Amino acid sequence: MITDVSLPAWYIYGAGGLGLETMDILTSCINSGTVPPHACSFLVDNPEGKTVNGYPLVSFTECDPTAKVTIAVGEPEIRSQLAEKCLAKGLVLSTLVSPHAYVSDSAVLDEGVVIAPFVSVQASAKISRNVAVNTQAIVGHHVTVSEHAVISSQVNLGGASAVGAKSYVGMGVLVRELLTIGESSIVGMGSVVHRDIPDGVIAIGNPARPAKRNENKRVFS
Ligand SMILES: CC(C)(COP(=O)(O)OP(=O)(O)OC[C@H]1O[C@@H](n2cnc3c(N)ncnc32)[C@H](O)[C@@H]1OP(=O)(O)O)[C@@H](O)C(=O)NCCC(=O)NCCS
Repeated sequence: MITDVSLPAWYIYGAGGLGLETMDILTSCINSGTVPPHACSFLVDNPEGKTVNGYPLVSFTECDPTAKVTIAVGEPEIRSQLAEKCLAKGLVLSTLVSPHAYVSDSAVLDEGVVIAPFVSVQASAKISRNVAVNTQAIVGHHVTVSEHAVISSQVNLGGASAVGAKSYVGMGVLVRELLTIGESSIVGMGSVVHRDIPDGVIAIGNPARPAKRNENKRVFS
């Protein structure tokens, strides 16, 4: 655990389940030498208490505006809002790749991306700003994942498929090669995507079909 405040600060924004997992990634990056030492803290809007899992809780209003930040909230719409808020303050959206992940040399990761342990990002994949890719997901060759999307654990995105901005792909989803999931859509856990999924829907099942509009833009109610 590295909380020495004389070091440059790196914030994990969010102290829920994804926040704890993302803090573990930051710590393992520092311990393995892929990221230099930083003072690691959780950034939250309204701190309740002083620490979580031994890491300090820092209020957004009192944070160091020059620090690095990685967003660790599972709702794509909120990820997008937090990213704009961080950038307006001057915080630097920063990418974290677990030392236990595989990322092809020809893959491109934009700023603020999180790649969790045992993820595989294949040749020429492109992962845009502030995307989270969770444990054991496979991002196939030439896949594109657009801003603020969340790819849950054990998802398999077939070659040259595309995930739109602010979409959420639930646990264990399979996406056939060359298909597109639109913007601001949710694909429910365990679904199998055989046809393109349009913008703004909640799609479930095998084959995955839109069940309703994604009106309130929340995955977790
Ligand atoms: C798709 C999802 C967002 C729908 O949530 P919801 O709107 O609250 O839907 P409900 O749970 O009320 O379910 C509505 C109906 O759809 C069915 N359903 C929901 N998700 C389903 C899924 N993934 N596959 C098949 N059917 C599903 C329910 O069984 C229910 O059917 P019923 O009306 O016949 O009982 C949610 O089920 C989901 O998959 N969330 C992502 C979970 C995930 O990946 N979590 C990762 C956590 S780290």
